[in-house]
Amino acid sequence: MLNDSIQYHNGALYCDSVPVSEIAAHAGTPVYIYSLRRALDNLRRLQSAFAALRPHIHYSAKANANLAVLRALVRAGAGMDAVSGGEIYRALHAGAAPENIVFAGVGKTPDELRYALEQDVGWFNVENVGELRLLNDLAASMGRTAQIALRLNPDVAASTHRHIATGHGGAKFGLSIGAARDLLAHQSDYPCIRFSAIHLHIGSQLHDTQATRSAVKLALEVIAPYPDLRTVNIGGGLPVAYTPDDPIPNWEDFAAALTPLLKDYTVLLEPGRSIIADAGLLVVSVLYVKQQAGQTFVITDGSMTELLRPALYEAYHEIVPVKSPPVPGARSLLEVASDRIHIVGPVCETTDVLGRDRHLPGVQPGDQLAILTAGAYGLVMANNYNQRPRPPEVVVHEDGQTWHIARRRETWADLAQFEV
Ligand SMILES: Cc1ncc(COP(=O)(O)O)c(C=O)c1O
Repeated sequence: MLNDSIQYHNGALYCDSVPVSEIAAHAGTPVYIYSLRRALDNLRRLQSAFAALRPHIHYSAKANANLAVLRALVRAGAGMDAVSGGEIYRALHAGAAPENIVFAGVGKTPDELRYALEQDVGWFNVENVGELRLLNDLAASMGRTAQIALRLNPDVAASTHRHIATGHGGAKFGLSIGAARDLLAHQSDYPCIRFSAIHLHIGSQLHDTQATRSAVKLALEVIAPYPDLRTVNIGGGLPVAYTPDDPIPNWEDFAAALTPLLKDYTVLLEPGRSIIADAGLLVVSVLYVKQQAGQTFVITDGSMTELLRPALYEAYHEIVPVKSPPVPGARSLLEVASDRIHIVGPVCETTDVLGRDRHLPGVQPGDQLAILTAGAYGLVMANNYNQRPRPPEVVVHEDGQTWHIARRRETWADLAQFEV
């Protein structure tokens, strides 16, 4: 969706004060572009929505782990939520203080736990009994104490796509209420663990504040008997509008639903999508336009290997021309020829569709299209299927005027480099 940073001026799409076509001319397509100004603005808007709770914000690096993005957020005061040794490494590389890193994840390896302990990572979100035992043993062998939050699986149904719901009983995530209660009752069995918090994350792109409220209530009941546990990590999941009429609650609604419950607690938040999704776009070029079986296929140089979300989650991203905005109500020759325009990539999969049944005025080979709200779960999920090099990432700096290629385009030689 367009916003203060991603806007048309005189018929051309801009990222802040930089024409998107200027970046595409230098960096080529497909290319990801991120507005640091928008990301930082989102961070500030989130802080202000939740001001009554004064939360510690740990940006969820899984959403977008570009170092320039991480660095900007760290400089603005954000901690990091990391789900692998690789993300911890990146967070540290971007300047995050170890004590401001949360290490989450359903299956942390011994090497990753050891690395996190060595680095003095501030929090471990523990998801099963075996992990707790291992963490305790590793900490003991290293003469350390690990501060943990138990991740609760509250068995509540989040209103979101089934592939990004994580808090229902059948999900692999977290500890059941019974298992969490049992661990808390046996804290003394884990002498090198400091039980300090409860954690939950019931899903991403949440459409309902009440499910989160119910989950938080359950979490508070679980820790109620333990006066030392007065910290609640409520995860991420704050929603982002992918279209102007996306029926999502705003962040203030979430804060209003949770503040009465949490006002006497220390609160941690792990937002990913809400910080970076609408700060990013993926720019692709049209290669061919093909009419077939009453449909029009606009074949671009971007595909599911750059942006997996439509294929993986049936996610909807607005797709707009880089030059000249769509005139409301105007129907192009192409649209008159066919109402069913699909924007597709070159990958050998029927699911390689970036957008179905779209209305785009007069698209022709050589045109550039921007896939909006693509800053979260974009490049991080990109892959080399069909031996496609991953695209570059460009950041437009906070001044809105200057930009640089923060990650270069991969080459064919890169694709072969790990084989011996
Ligand atoms: C434990 C945890 N925290 C935070 C996040 C970030 O979620 P979002 O990007 O929806 O804010 C996720 C996403 O999967 C997660 O699993």
